[in-house]
Amino acid sequence: MLAIKVPKREAESIKRKLKKLKLYDGKRRPKRENDFILLPVIDDPRAYELGYDVLPVELPLRPERQIYKNLESVLAERLTTEELKYLRRYDVIGDIAVIQIPPELEHRADDIVWGLRKVHPFIRVVAKKGFHEGAFRIRDYSIIWGEKRLTTAHKENGVEIKVDLSRAFFNPRMKGERYRLAQLVKDGERVLIPFAGVLPYALVIAHYRKVKITAVELNEEAYRLGLENIELNRKRLKGEIEFIHGDAFEVLPKLPTFDRVISPTPRGVDALALTLSKAERWLHYYDFVHEEKIPEFRERIVDECRKQGKECRVRIKKVSDFKPHVFKVCADIELKGEE
Ligand SMILES: C[S@@+](CC[C@H](N)C(=O)[O-])C[C@H]1O[C@@H](n2cnc3c(N)ncnc32)[C@H](O)[C@@H]1O
Repeated sequence: MLAIKVPKREAESIKRKLKKLKLYDGKRRPKRENDFILLPVIDDPRAYELGYDVLPVELPLRPERQIYKNLESVLAERLTTEELKYLRRYDVIGDIAVIQIPPELEHRADDIVWGLRKVHPFIRVVAKKGFHEGAFRIRDYSIIWGEKRLTTAHKENGVEIKVDLSRAFFNPRMKGERYRLAQLVKDGERVLIPFAGVLPYALVIAHYRKVKITAVELNEEAYRLGLENIELNRKRLKGEIEFIHGDAFEVLPKLPTFDRVISPTPRGVDALALTLSKAERWLHYYDFVHEEKIPEFRERIVDECRKQGKECRVRIKKVSDFKPHVFKVCADIELKGEE
Protein backbone atom coordinates (compact mmCIF):
# COMPACT_ATOMS: atom_id res chain seq x y z
CA MET A 1 0.00 0.00 0.00
CA LEU A 2 1.23 3.50 -0.80
CA ALA A 3 0.87 6.97 0.63
CA ILE A 4 2.24 10.34 -0.35
CA LYS A 5 3.69 12.49 2.39
CA VAL A 6 2.56 16.12 2.17
CA PRO A 7 2.87 19.15 4.47
CA LYS A 8 -0.24 19.47 6.64
CA ARG A 9 -1.26 22.89 5.30
CA GLU A 10 -1.28 21.58 1.71
CA ALA A 11 -3.08 18.33 2.51
CA GLU A 12 -6.63 19.42 1.56
CA SER A 13 -5.68 20.86 -1.83
CA ILE A 14 -3.46 17.89 -2.69
CA LYS A 15 -6.18 15.48 -1.63
CA ARG A 16 -8.56 17.28 -4.05
CA LYS A 17 -5.96 17.06 -6.81
CA LEU A 18 -5.42 13.33 -6.13
CA LYS A 19 -9.18 12.74 -6.29
CA LYS A 20 -9.41 14.63 -9.58
CA LEU A 21 -6.58 12.50 -11.00
CA LYS A 22 -8.31 9.36 -9.61
CA LEU A 23 -5.14 8.54 -7.64
CA TYR A 24 -6.66 8.85 -4.17
CA ASP A 25 -7.42 5.58 -2.36
CA GLY A 26 -10.73 6.39 -0.65
CA LYS A 27 -10.89 2.98 1.03
CA ARG A 28 -8.15 4.00 3.45
CA ARG A 29 -7.73 6.70 6.05
CA PRO A 30 -5.08 9.42 5.90
CA LYS A 31 -2.71 9.57 8.87
CA ARG A 32 -0.98 12.46 10.60
CA GLU A 33 2.79 12.39 11.17
CA ASN A 34 3.95 15.53 12.98
CA ASP A 35 3.59 18.38 10.48
CA PHE A 36 2.85 16.03 7.61
CA ILE A 37 -0.12 14.01 6.43
CA LEU A 38 0.14 10.63 4.73
CA LEU A 39 -2.49 10.53 1.99
CA PRO A 40 -3.43 7.06 0.69
CA VAL A 41 -2.88 6.62 -3.06
CA ILE A 42 -3.33 3.77 -5.50
CA ASP A 43 -0.30 2.12 -7.06
CA ASP A 44 0.10 4.26 -10.18
CA PRO A 45 3.32 5.72 -11.68
CA ARG A 46 1.67 9.17 -11.80
CA ALA A 47 1.74 9.29 -7.97
CA TYR A 48 5.54 9.61 -8.18
CA GLU A 49 5.36 12.59 -10.53
CA LEU A 50 3.73 15.00 -8.05
CA GLY A 51 6.94 16.06 -6.35
CA TYR A 52 6.27 14.45 -2.93
CA ASP A 53 7.70 11.37 -1.21
CA VAL A 54 5.76 8.19 -1.96
CA LEU A 55 6.08 5.70 0.90
CA PRO A 56 5.00 2.10 1.36
CA VAL A 57 2.75 2.25 4.48
CA GLU A 58 -0.17 0.32 5.97
CA LEU A 59 -2.92 2.90 6.33
CA PRO A 60 -6.05 1.64 8.13
CA LEU A 61 -9.20 0.83 6.17
CA ARG A 62 -12.14 3.20 6.72
CA PRO A 63 -14.45 1.59 9.32
CA GLU A 64 -17.23 0.73 6.84
CA ARG A 65 -14.70 -0.96 4.54
CA GLN A 66 -13.24 -2.81 7.48
CA ILE A 67 -16.56 -4.34 8.57
CA TYR A 68 -17.28 -5.23 4.96
CA LYS A 69 -13.88 -6.97 4.79
CA ASN A 70 -14.71 -8.81 8.01
CA LEU A 71 -17.91 -10.20 6.50
CA GLU A 72 -16.04 -11.17 3.36
CA SER A 73 -13.40 -13.07 5.30
CA VAL A 74 -15.99 -14.83 7.50
CA LEU A 75 -18.00 -15.84 4.43
CA ALA A 76 -14.89 -17.13 2.66
CA GLU A 77 -15.49 -20.25 4.78
CA ARG A 78 -18.77 -20.93 2.97
CA LEU A 79 -18.85 -19.04 -0.34
CA THR A 80 -16.65 -19.55 -3.40
CA THR A 81 -14.29 -16.77 -4.57
CA GLU A 82 -16.61 -16.28 -7.55
CA GLU A 83 -19.65 -15.87 -5.27
CA LEU A 84 -17.80 -13.46 -2.97
CA LYS A 85 -17.42 -11.07 -5.89
CA TYR A 86 -21.18 -10.50 -5.84
CA LEU A 87 -21.25 -9.56 -2.16
CA ARG A 88 -22.49 -5.95 -1.74
CA ARG A 89 -21.79 -3.37 0.92
CA TYR A 90 -24.33 -3.48 3.73
CA ASP A 91 -25.51 -1.23 6.56
CA VAL A 92 -26.15 -1.79 10.22
CA ILE A 93 -28.92 0.53 11.44
CA GLY A 94 -29.39 0.13 15.20
CA ASP A 95 -29.81 -3.63 15.61
CA ILE A 96 -30.95 -4.21 12.01
CA ALA A 97 -28.54 -5.35 9.27
CA VAL A 98 -29.66 -4.28 5.83
CA ILE A 99 -28.17 -5.97 2.80
CA GLN A 100 -28.80 -6.14 -0.91
CA ILE A 101 -28.67 -9.72 -2.18
CA PRO A 102 -28.15 -9.92 -5.95
CA PRO A 103 -29.83 -12.81 -7.87
CA GLU A 104 -26.43 -14.58 -8.12
CA LEU A 105 -26.38 -14.94 -4.29
CA GLU A 106 -30.07 -15.63 -3.57
CA HIS A 107 -29.29 -19.29 -2.90
CA ARG A 108 -26.70 -18.17 -0.32
CA ALA A 109 -29.05 -15.96 1.74
CA ASP A 110 -28.83 -18.28 4.81
CA ASP A 111 -25.02 -18.24 4.71
CA ILE A 112 -25.01 -14.44 4.42
CA VAL A 113 -27.30 -14.18 7.49
CA TRP A 114 -24.92 -16.55 9.32
CA GLY A 115 -21.94 -14.35 8.36
CA LEU A 116 -23.66 -11.12 9.38
CA ARG A 117 -24.59 -12.57 12.78
CA LYS A 118 -21.04 -13.73 13.30
CA VAL A 119 -19.58 -10.27 12.52
CA HIS A 120 -22.36 -8.41 14.42
CA PRO A 121 -23.57 -10.66 17.26
CA PHE A 122 -25.93 -7.90 18.54
CA ILE A 123 -28.16 -7.74 15.43
CA ARG A 124 -31.75 -8.91 15.87
CA VAL A 125 -33.07 -8.45 12.33
CA VAL A 126 -31.61 -9.03 8.87
CA ALA A 127 -33.52 -7.28 6.08
CA LYS A 128 -33.03 -7.49 2.35
CA LYS A 129 -33.16 -4.11 0.74
CA GLY A 130 -35.14 -3.11 -2.35
CA PHE A 131 -35.49 0.30 -3.97
CA HIS A 132 -36.62 3.69 -2.71
CA GLU A 133 -40.16 4.42 -3.81
CA GLY A 134 -42.52 7.41 -4.04
CA ALA A 135 -42.21 10.98 -2.83
CA PHE A 136 -41.47 9.88 0.75
CA ARG A 137 -38.47 7.86 -0.53
CA ILE A 138 -39.35 4.79 1.52
CA ARG A 139 -37.43 1.63 0.67
CA ASP A 140 -38.99 -1.70 0.08
CA TYR A 141 -37.54 -4.27 2.55
CA SER A 142 -38.13 -7.94 3.28
CA ILE A 143 -37.07 -9.44 6.59
CA ILE A 144 -35.05 -12.59 5.98
CA TRP A 145 -34.08 -13.37 9.58
CA GLY A 146 -34.99 -12.40 13.14
CA GLU A 147 -37.70 -10.31 14.72
CA LYS A 148 -40.46 -9.07 12.43
CA ARG A 149 -39.83 -5.35 12.76
CA LEU A 150 -38.13 -2.54 10.93
CA THR A 151 -38.09 -0.12 13.86
CA THR A 152 -34.91 0.50 15.79
CA ALA A 153 -32.80 3.25 17.38
CA HIS A 154 -29.60 4.18 15.58
CA LYS A 155 -26.69 6.01 17.19
CA GLU A 156 -24.55 8.44 15.21
CA ASN A 157 -22.67 11.68 15.81
CA GLY A 158 -23.61 11.77 19.50
CA VAL A 159 -27.38 11.44 19.02
CA GLU A 160 -29.90 8.59 18.99
CA ILE A 161 -32.29 8.41 16.06
CA LYS A 162 -35.49 6.34 16.18
CA VAL A 163 -36.27 5.02 12.73
CA ASP A 164 -38.95 2.90 11.11
CA LEU A 165 -37.51 1.75 7.80
CA SER A 166 -40.94 0.66 6.56
CA ARG A 167 -42.48 4.10 7.07
CA ALA A 168 -39.82 6.81 6.78
CA PHE A 169 -36.60 7.48 4.89
CA PHE A 170 -33.28 7.08 6.70
CA ASN A 171 -29.76 6.69 5.27
CA PRO A 172 -26.96 5.88 7.75
CA ARG A 173 -24.35 6.51 5.05
CA MET A 174 -24.93 10.27 5.33
CA LYS A 175 -23.34 10.28 8.79
CA GLY A 176 -20.15 11.92 7.49
CA GLU A 177 -22.13 14.54 5.56
CA ARG A 178 -24.17 15.40 8.63
CA TYR A 179 -20.97 15.83 10.62
CA ARG A 180 -19.43 17.96 7.85
CA LEU A 181 -22.42 20.30 7.79
CA ALA A 182 -22.64 20.50 11.57
CA GLN A 183 -19.02 21.69 11.62
CA LEU A 184 -19.79 24.42 9.06
CA VAL A 185 -22.67 25.82 11.12
CA LYS A 186 -21.83 28.56 13.63
CA ASP A 187 -23.46 29.10 17.02
CA GLY A 188 -26.29 31.60 16.79
CA GLU A 189 -27.32 30.78 13.21
CA ARG A 190 -30.94 30.31 12.12
CA VAL A 191 -31.11 27.17 9.98
CA LEU A 192 -33.92 25.88 7.76
CA ILE A 193 -34.14 22.19 6.80
CA PRO A 194 -36.96 21.26 4.43
CA PHE A 195 -37.36 17.52 3.56
CA ALA A 196 -36.18 16.83 7.09
CA GLY A 197 -37.28 13.16 7.48
CA VAL A 198 -36.91 11.80 11.02
CA LEU A 199 -34.56 14.77 11.70
CA PRO A 200 -31.06 13.28 11.41
CA TYR A 201 -29.51 16.54 10.10
CA ALA A 202 -31.36 18.71 12.61
CA LEU A 203 -30.42 16.51 15.59
CA VAL A 204 -26.73 16.29 14.68
CA ILE A 205 -26.45 20.04 14.06
CA ALA A 206 -28.35 20.90 17.26
CA HIS A 207 -26.10 18.48 19.14
CA TYR A 208 -22.96 20.34 18.13
CA ARG A 209 -24.23 23.91 17.82
CA LYS A 210 -26.38 26.38 19.75
CA VAL A 211 -28.66 27.24 16.84
CA LYS A 212 -32.35 27.69 16.02
CA ILE A 213 -33.49 25.14 13.47
CA THR A 214 -36.81 25.06 11.62
CA ALA A 215 -37.45 21.70 9.92
CA VAL A 216 -40.28 20.73 7.55
CA GLU A 217 -41.50 17.24 6.61
CA LEU A 218 -44.57 16.03 4.73
CA ASN A 219 -44.63 12.33 5.67
CA GLU A 220 -46.70 12.12 8.85
CA GLU A 221 -44.88 8.98 10.08
CA ALA A 222 -41.48 10.66 9.69
CA TYR A 223 -42.86 13.78 11.39
CA ARG A 224 -44.11 11.74 14.36
CA LEU A 225 -40.76 9.94 14.70
CA GLY A 226 -38.95 13.27 14.41
CA LEU A 227 -40.95 14.68 17.34
CA GLU A 228 -40.06 11.57 19.37
CA ASN A 229 -36.41 12.05 18.42
CA ILE A 230 -36.39 15.62 19.72
CA GLU A 231 -37.67 14.34 23.08
CA LEU A 232 -35.30 11.36 23.11
CA ASN A 233 -32.29 13.63 22.58
CA ARG A 234 -33.45 16.61 24.64
CA LYS A 235 -30.40 16.43 26.98
CA ARG A 236 -27.94 16.03 24.11
CA LEU A 237 -29.03 19.14 22.19
CA LYS A 238 -27.46 22.58 22.54
CA GLY A 239 -29.73 23.99 19.85
CA GLU A 240 -33.51 24.21 19.46
CA ILE A 241 -35.59 22.46 16.80
CA GLU A 242 -39.01 23.61 15.62
CA PHE A 243 -40.61 20.89 13.48
CA ILE A 244 -43.42 21.67 11.02
CA HIS A 245 -45.61 19.02 9.43
CA GLY A 246 -46.43 20.04 5.86
CA ASP A 247 -45.51 20.36 2.20
CA ALA A 248 -42.28 22.34 1.85
CA PHE A 249 -43.66 24.00 -1.28
CA GLU A 250 -46.58 25.39 0.75
CA VAL A 251 -44.85 25.99 4.09
CA LEU A 252 -41.60 27.66 2.97
CA PRO A 253 -43.17 30.65 1.18
CA LYS A 254 -44.81 31.58 4.50
CA LEU A 255 -41.53 31.41 6.48
CA PRO A 256 -38.94 34.20 6.86
CA THR A 257 -35.41 33.86 5.44
CA PHE A 258 -32.63 31.98 7.30
CA ASP A 259 -28.84 32.28 7.61
CA ARG A 260 -28.46 28.77 6.21
CA VAL A 261 -30.73 26.37 4.36
CA ILE A 262 -29.98 22.65 4.05
CA SER A 263 -32.02 20.84 1.42
CA PRO A 264 -31.74 17.01 1.45
CA THR A 265 -33.88 17.11 -1.67
CA PRO A 266 -35.88 13.96 -2.54
CA ARG A 267 -34.80 12.50 -5.88
CA GLY A 268 -36.75 13.92 -8.81
CA VAL A 269 -37.89 17.05 -6.94
CA ASP A 270 -36.69 20.49 -8.06
CA ALA A 271 -36.59 22.71 -5.00
CA LEU A 272 -33.65 24.90 -6.02
CA ALA A 273 -35.56 28.17 -6.57
CA LEU A 274 -37.67 27.60 -3.46
CA THR A 275 -34.80 26.83 -1.07
CA LEU A 276 -32.53 29.52 -2.53
CA SER A 277 -35.24 32.12 -1.95
CA LYS A 278 -35.09 31.31 1.79
CA ALA A 279 -31.27 31.45 2.16
CA GLU A 280 -29.39 34.58 3.23
CA ARG A 281 -25.80 33.31 3.50
CA TRP A 282 -25.61 29.61 2.62
CA LEU A 283 -27.61 26.97 0.79
CA HIS A 284 -26.48 23.32 0.84
CA TYR A 285 -28.48 21.73 -1.94
CA TYR A 286 -28.42 17.96 -2.53
CA ASP A 287 -29.25 16.47 -5.92
CA PHE A 288 -28.45 13.47 -8.11
CA VAL A 289 -26.32 14.40 -11.11
CA HIS A 290 -24.54 12.56 -13.93
CA GLU A 291 -20.83 13.40 -13.70
CA GLU A 292 -20.87 14.91 -17.19
CA LYS A 293 -23.74 17.19 -16.20
CA ILE A 294 -22.04 18.73 -13.16
CA PRO A 295 -21.02 21.90 -15.09
CA GLU A 296 -24.64 22.24 -16.27
CA PHE A 297 -25.86 21.82 -12.68
CA ARG A 298 -23.48 24.58 -11.55
CA GLU A 299 -24.70 26.82 -14.39
CA ARG A 300 -28.33 26.23 -13.33
CA ILE A 301 -27.46 27.31 -9.77
CA VAL A 302 -25.60 30.43 -10.91
CA ASP A 303 -28.53 31.35 -13.23
CA GLU A 304 -31.05 30.91 -10.43
CA CYS A 305 -28.93 33.07 -8.11
CA ARG A 306 -28.76 35.75 -10.81
CA LYS A 307 -32.55 35.57 -11.27
CA GLN A 308 -33.00 36.10 -7.54
CA GLY A 309 -30.51 38.99 -7.52
CA LYS A 310 -27.95 37.09 -5.45
CA GLU A 311 -24.23 36.85 -6.09
CA CYS A 312 -22.90 33.37 -5.31
CA ARG A 313 -19.90 31.13 -5.07
CA VAL A 314 -20.62 27.44 -5.70
CA ARG A 315 -18.63 24.38 -4.71
CA ILE A 316 -19.99 20.99 -5.73
CA LYS A 317 -19.03 17.95 -3.69
CA LYS A 318 -19.65 14.36 -4.75
CA VAL A 319 -21.20 12.77 -1.68
CA SER A 320 -21.80 9.17 -2.79
CA ASP A 321 -22.17 6.94 -5.83
CA PHE A 322 -25.77 6.48 -6.87
CA LYS A 323 -25.38 4.42 -10.04
CA PRO A 324 -22.58 4.23 -12.61
CA HIS A 325 -21.48 7.81 -13.38
CA VAL A 326 -24.37 9.31 -11.38
CA PHE A 327 -23.58 10.84 -7.99
CA LYS A 328 -25.44 12.23 -5.07
CA VAL A 329 -23.88 15.68 -4.86
CA CYS A 330 -24.09 18.57 -2.47
CA ALA A 331 -23.78 22.10 -3.87
CA ASP A 332 -22.42 24.35 -1.14
CA ILE A 333 -23.66 27.76 -2.29
CA GLU A 334 -22.27 30.82 -0.55
CA LEU A 335 -24.40 33.91 -1.05
CA LYS A 336 -22.89 37.36 -1.12
CA GLY A 337 -26.07 39.37 -0.61
CA GLU A 338 -27.94 41.64 -3.02
CA GLU A 339 -26.11 42.63 -6.24
C1 LIG B 1 -34.19 12.17 0.73
S1 LIG B 1 -35.30 12.16 2.11
C2 LIG B 1 -34.30 13.00 3.30
C3 LIG B 1 -34.80 12.82 4.69
C4 LIG B 1 -33.85 13.31 5.79
N1 LIG B 1 -33.44 14.66 5.58
C5 LIG B 1 -32.67 12.39 5.90
O1 LIG B 1 -31.56 12.79 5.47
O2 LIG B 1 -32.83 11.28 6.40
C6 LIG B 1 -36.46 13.36 1.61
C7 LIG B 1 -37.58 13.62 2.60
O3 LIG B 1 -38.44 14.62 2.07
C8 LIG B 1 -39.77 14.28 2.40
N2 LIG B 1 -40.63 15.00 1.43
C9 LIG B 1 -40.92 14.66 0.15
N3 LIG B 1 -41.66 15.61 -0.43
C10 LIG B 1 -41.82 16.59 0.50
C11 LIG B 1 -42.48 17.85 0.48
N4 LIG B 1 -43.11 18.29 -0.61
N5 LIG B 1 -42.43 18.62 1.59
C12 LIG B 1 -41.78 18.21 2.70
N6 LIG B 1 -41.15 17.01 2.78
C13 LIG B 1 -41.17 16.21 1.69
C14 LIG B 1 -39.82 12.78 2.32
O4 LIG B 1 -40.89 12.25 3.07
C15 LIG B 1 -38.45 12.40 2.90
O5 LIG B 1 -38.52 12.22 4.30
